[in-house]
Amino acid sequence: MMGDDLLLRRRGGVLFLVLSAVLVLLGGGADAGVTSSYRRKLEATVEMPLDADVFRVPPGYNAPQQVHITLGDQEGTAMTVSWVTASELGNSTVKFGEKPDPEKMERRAEGTHTRYDYFNYTSGFIHHCTLKHLKHSTKYYYAMGFGHTVRTFSFTTPPKPGPDVPFKFGLIGDLGQTFDSNITLSHYDDNGGDAVLYVGDLSYADNHPLHDNNRWDTWGRFMERNAAYQPWIWTAGNHELDFAPELGETTPFKPYTHRYPTPYLSSGSTEPFWYSVKLASAHVVVLSSYSAYGKYTPQWTWLQAELQRVDRTTTPWLVVLMHSPWYNSNNYHYMEGETMRVQFEKWLVDARADVVLAGHVHSYERSHRVSNVAYDIVNGEATPVRDAGAPVYVTIGDGGNIEGVADNFTRPQPSYSAFREASFGHATLEIKNRTHAYYSWHRNHDGAKVVADGVWLTNRAQSYAVFFLDRTKTSSMAIDHQP
Ligand SMILES: *[C@@H]1O[C@H](CO)[C@@H](O)[C@H](O)[C@H]1NC(C)=O
Ligand SMILES: *[C@@H]1O[C@H](CO)[C@@H](O)[C@H](O)[C@H]1NC(C)=O
Ligand SMILES: *[C@@H]1O[C@H](CO)[C@@H](O)[C@H](O)[C@H]1NC(C)=O
Ligand SMILES: *[C@@H]1O[C@H](CO)[C@@H](O)[C@H](O)[C@H]1NC(C)=O
Ligand SMILES: *[C@@H]1O[C@H](CO)[C@@H](O)[C@H](O)[C@H]1NC(C)=O
Ligand SMILES: [Fe+2]
Repeated sequence: MMGDDLLLRRRGGVLFLVLSAVLVLLGGGADAGVTSSYRRKLEATVEMPLDADVFRVPPGYNAPQQVHITLGDQEGTAMTVSWVTASELGNSTVKFGEKPDPEKMERRAEGTHTRYDYFNYTSGFIHHCTLKHLKHSTKYYYAMGFGHTVRTFSFTTPPKPGPDVPFKFGLIGDLGQTFDSNITLSHYDDNGGDAVLYVGDLSYADNHPLHDNNRWDTWGRFMERNAAYQPWIWTAGNHELDFAPELGETTPFKPYTHRYPTPYLSSGSTEPFWYSVKLASAHVVVLSSYSAYGKYTPQWTWLQAELQRVDRTTTPWLVVLMHSPWYNSNNYHYMEGETMRVQFEKWLVDARADVVLAGHVHSYERSHRVSNVAYDIVNGEATPVRDAGAPVYVTIGDGGNIEGVADNFTRPQPSYSAFREASFGHATLEIKNRTHAYYSWHRNHDGAKVVADGVWLTNRAQSYAVFFLDRTKTSSMAIDHQP
């Protein structure tokens, strides 16, 4: 296996040893990255057929379908429920409460509905209803479809944000709707998380002729078994653009924005594509690779202010989501994230972000803690360096979509890359308390619980707060390590 993931930056040779448990790591620090030689199956990635079991329309006249939930506010005391009715508008009310019987659900909320046309496709009636004033850490049942076919689901609200609140995230990206996608989702179902951080590219409907939007509907039905029961935090990917002037479709993100709302208003954002939520001990910032991020743009202005609002004493973990990765050593989509990295990386390093998650590249990669923020046009310092204050970068675009696996890594493996493998899978991030989180990647060709790449992450803000008063003078003992 790989060497211990000791993240040393030796300056002046002074090394403060604080954690006795990691004495073994002394002398390490020059660990080479691993390119896993694990061979995935070589068959093509195949879309599940329209009559696949996972795409079945629920029985009953005008039954609610494609049910999914996301946070309805920044802190998890509201939940937005979305669903589609196909035959007629039906009823947009959601009843909810702590009892499973819809007759006994004491509360109700009125939803809204929308529809859209895309070339010659017309969507069903898309309902969105936000359930407000929920208690934290509480199981709620909810039901909709009154007057036609009532369906009942449940979710547990996230705990109140605080520094030592355990929480388990599922990390999934670029899922699509192939047989491999179904394995990814099944493995995540088996591993069981509390909420999903989804890094973009949802249905891949746009890979079908005319961007066949029926594939947005099949994806919604496929996802329901998980997304109706726990919040998915959405990031926009390039496959959400559906920008097709040749079809007369010139409004970017049209299907996505009609179907997948985000709670962007409650974090002071002006567009649904960038926003933040607080889940347990994590402050999660979602960015958009496909919206303007240059200086003075709305996203740039929002992120600058947002990073000031992050309160690491309440939410010690700062997790950032985007679609196009900044540190990607795969020849697919090589350097596509570069302009955004140049724009924002220093901010995330200065903010001591813990983890940056991206998708887009259909394989798996995890970086060491690195930064590349010294370059100023004249000094020539444009190489990533180990930086114990910087985030770990994870590319988790390996959900299994129709485009297949990205099996062409650059060689040699760059020194910033800790582990990479061209397989499908998903990851989880289990926050234990303010200092420790366990990150693990699960490839689809193993059992769901097998850890193909795992690392204990120590919190950047906490580690420095506790051990280092001046990170420019000391080497880091804020150590991540392999289990
Ligand atoms: C998808 O996975 C589920 C759960 O493992 C299984 O019941 C179902 O048959 C699968 N469907 C397809 C088309 O692979
Ligand atoms: C949309 O146009 C395509 C190509 O002409 C055709 O195959 C399809 O049946 C049409 N769909 C609808 C809903 O008219
Ligand atoms: C929708 O269903 C609820 C619950 O049964 C009912 O109170 C409400 O009147 C219905 N709304 C409409 C517009 O029919
Ligand atoms: C891998 O990527 C390199 C660089 O883009 C390219 O030259 C090469 O042909 C690719 N190999 C395969 C097998 O696609
Ligand atoms: C935080 O969690 C880690 C991992 O479970 C554990 O080793 C450590 O003792 C915990 N810290 C506190 C203060 O409980
Ligand atoms: Fe993508």
